[in-house]
This record gives sequence, structure tokens and C-alpha cells, in this order.
Amino acid sequence: MTQFRNIVILTGAGVSAESGIDTFRDGGGLWERHRVDDVATPEAFARDPGLVQRFYDMRRAAIQEKVPNAAHMALARLDQAWPKKGMGRTVTLVTQNVDDLHERAGASVIHMHGEHLKAWCTLCDTRSHWRGPLIDGPPCPACGARALRPDVVWFGEMPYHMDRIHAALRSADLFVSIGTSGAVYPAAGFVQSARDLGARTLELNLEPSQGSRWFHETRLGPASELVPEWVEEMLAG
Ligand code: APR
Repeated sequence: MTQFRNIVILTGAGVSAESGIDTFRDGGGLWERHRVDDVATPEAFARDPGLVQRFYDMRRAAIQEKVPNAAHMALARLDQAWPKKGMGRTVTLVTQNVDDLHERAGASVIHMHGEHLKAWCTLCDTRSHWRGPLIDGPPCPACGARALRPDVVWFGEMPYHMDRIHAALRSADLFVSIGTSGAVYPAAGFVQSARDLGARTLELNLEPSQGSRWFHETRLGPASELVPEWVEEMLAG
């Protein structure tokens, strides 16, 4: 594995599952208990802002009680140690998760679907760190308008940082997908892009994802075991 220089890692809900944060599409997952159309679209927010704010207020409160697991810790170790293994080596960690467990473990991460711990003012466009509820319409710290919404990307909205992500994919020689079902684009398409551009592709997941056939290698098991093993392999070489 040590022939690699530039690694792009994509994580999904599976990496946080063992920290006690529900995934979306597993049995009993979030989208079995809530309809996407009720809580995760701009139309839902326009129709019933209270319902949507309450849903995200609960999720925002819940994640603050969770802690990073062995998979987050291992990825942070890789993020910090990999550049030291040779000039010009990079790790780009991209997550679809809106929790903050990667950064609490010590990794720098690109949040393509936004962040639970930020509020976005739809009036002045400022994003503010936010830990409390939004249900009562608190004022934006920047402009005072009562126009804050969760800074998460809903279905039908454009994911964040796509230019940065595509630039990283272009220079990647290894693409690793961890704990994601491969059901949601554009993230689900990263493996094909990386592979077309010549990268090796590896999947670490509890079960084969929808895009499993695009990976050169799939390793099945819990992220808390597979990820530390893989990181050790990378750093040992
Ligand atoms: N270790 C590894 N993988 C796991 C674990 C675990 N402990 N537990 C579950 N998984 C796997 C599941 O097998 C599944 O393939 O994680 C994947 C989770 O899939 P989803 O619930 O679909 O989550 P994700 O792929 O992150 O969803 C993508 O969908 O609703 C949107 O915006 C939301 O970012 C999310 C996006």
C-alpha cells in the first residue's frame, strides 16, 4: 500500500454508527422513522419550519453526547502521520456526515453535506457555530435577523466544496470509501471518477454498498475494526 501518495477518503454514516449515531438506510435507520420529504428538503422547511427545526434540534443535541470511536481516531492518526512519510503526500478526508466526530478525533475534514453544529442565516448568508436549538427563531449573531436554518445540505440542494473534492480526486492514487451505502450522489459517484482517473479503489463497509462493483477491493466488517487495521497497514509500509 505504500506506493500511494495522495489518498482521498470518503466517509458516511457507518463510520459514526459505533459511536451511537443512527445511519440512514440500515434497518431502523433514520429514513425508516422519518420521511425525507418531511424533514430533509427545502420544500419541507418552507411548509413546516417548526417540524424541521425540531428534528434538527434533536439531532444537534444528540450528537454532542457522542464521542469518536476507533475508526475516527485511526483516520485522524493517518491524517496527521501520512504527510510526514514523504514530501507531497496528502490525505483528503471528505465526509457526508454532519456530526463533528472526525474533527473531535483530531482530523481535518471536508463536510460536503454541511454540519449540525452550524446555523446558516438565509438573509446575510453567514454561517455561525451553533450548539443550541433553533426552534424559537434566535437572531443571527452577524445581522440579527431571525432567519437561521440548520447548515445541512438537504435533498435537492448542492453539496458543499465540490471544486475542492474534485481537485483532490484528480490527484488521488488511492480512493477509500468507508461506511456509506453509495445511495446518494454525487458522493456515490466519486469511486467511478477516481477509478477512471487511475486510482486504486478500496471499500470498507459492513456490507457491500450499492457501488461495490466499482471497487478494486472490498473489506467487510465494522469500521472500528477495519479502519484501524487499514491505517496500520498504510503507516507500516
Ligand atoms: N461499520 C461500517 N459500516 C457500517 C457500520 C459499521 N459499524 N454500520 C453501518 N454501516 C454501513 C451500512 O452497511 C451502510 O452501507 O454504513 C452504510 C450507511 O449507509 P447510509 O445509512 O445510507 O448512510 P450514508 O451512505 O452516509 O448516506 C448518505 O444520505 O440521507 C443522506 O445526507 C444523508 O449524508 C447522508 C447520505
